[in-house]
Amino acid sequence: MVKPLNQNVVTNLQRTGIRRFNELVAKVPGAIKLTVGEIDLPTPPNTKLRGINAITENVTKYTPNAGDLELRSAISEYLEQHYQLNYSAKNEIIVTVGGSEAIDTIFRTLLEPNDEIIIPAPCFPGYLGSGILTQSNIVLVDTCSSEFKLTPQQLEDAITPSTKLVVLNYPNNPTGSILTVSELEKLAEIIIKHDLYVLTDEMYATLVYDDIGIAPSIASIQGMKERTIIVNGVSKSSSMTGWRVGYIATSEKIVEQALKVHQYAVASPASMAQKAAITALTTDFPETQKMALLFERRRDILVNSLNEIGLKFNRPVGAFYCFLDISEFGMDSWSFAEKMLYDYKLAVVPGSSFSKYGDNFVRLSFAVDEQIIVEAMKRLSAGVASLRKKK
Ligand SMILES: Cc1ncc(COP(=O)(O)O)c(C=O)c1O
Repeated sequence: MVKPLNQNVVTNLQRTGIRRFNELVAKVPGAIKLTVGEIDLPTPPNTKLRGINAITENVTKYTPNAGDLELRSAISEYLEQHYQLNYSAKNEIIVTVGGSEAIDTIFRTLLEPNDEIIIPAPCFPGYLGSGILTQSNIVLVDTCSSEFKLTPQQLEDAITPSTKLVVLNYPNNPTGSILTVSELEKLAEIIIKHDLYVLTDEMYATLVYDDIGIAPSIASIQGMKERTIIVNGVSKSSSMTGWRVGYIATSEKIVEQALKVHQYAVASPASMAQKAAITALTTDFPETQKMALLFERRRDILVNSLNEIGLKFNRPVGAFYCFLDISEFGMDSWSFAEKMLYDYKLAVVPGSSFSKYGDNFVRLSFAVDEQIIVEAMKRLSAGVASLRKKK
């Protein structure tokens, strides 16, 4: 008999609902996919060229564990320019293998079994997986009735003596919500009072609409920088999901410890991808801003159609997702998504993929061409009309 694998933690871990649902979608020819979690445009040309040149110039070896210093300097300047935040390139930044590794590294650096992490939900499933792997206690806070924003009262109610970390993800996946500076200030007050850490996942910070420019960061609020861990990267902002470059920016005290976790797991991200990320954050930054404008137009087309169909949803002001309320149909999110997929060839992500609090919703991505959104809305409209007729 071969010995069992890690049953306690790993074999019990579920694959994400997004992946499982995508396997069904792949078997339906002609399905329109509003399931995508990445930008449909190519990586900007100068960014690509920088990566290609790096290979040609033999930048093909290990970089320092914390990442290429030129990239860390670019990240430091970026944070200074957009948030007036000062992070030392040498001691306060780690370049990671995407935002995913950044989250996992921080969880493993901070959390011990039975520590509590507060996660507003519905949420990005990565927090749940990494949280379970640390054997900490995940405390989900249901934000469905507060426009998917964590409120000060909800936060205060969720805190116990075991709470160590609060995860904030605004602009939010899967709901497109963001928090204003004054909303962040109120949360910060509570976080400081209870002496907690915050991981702020700002992967979508540049994809914001309605003239917001860039989403505010809780790290900018007085007294928060030393207890905040910024997680960000170029995956979403520069259409670079495959390059695998993210980063952590936080205090030297946390970086010193996190660097060990990161070093043993990955050593460093790919050297040529790090060079490309420098261009993405500097000379190609206008491309990021262009993408935001394009996505705003797509958001508007989607939102107008959903209004015409008479559906309930939270109008997204960031990221590229709309969380559609399906409670009127009396179906769970998986059944609704299967119905749309098999009967109308429209793929949307069941909200249950984003924790149990997402089950009255499905996630629609607008990271697709306008024409595709228009066709998708025709299919959704037909599906909704037939479900309404049956009632
Ligand atoms: C909120 C959020 N954080 C982190 C990630 C992971 O980003 P990356 O692809 O850089 O690992 C994603 C990807 O979908 C995300 O939506």
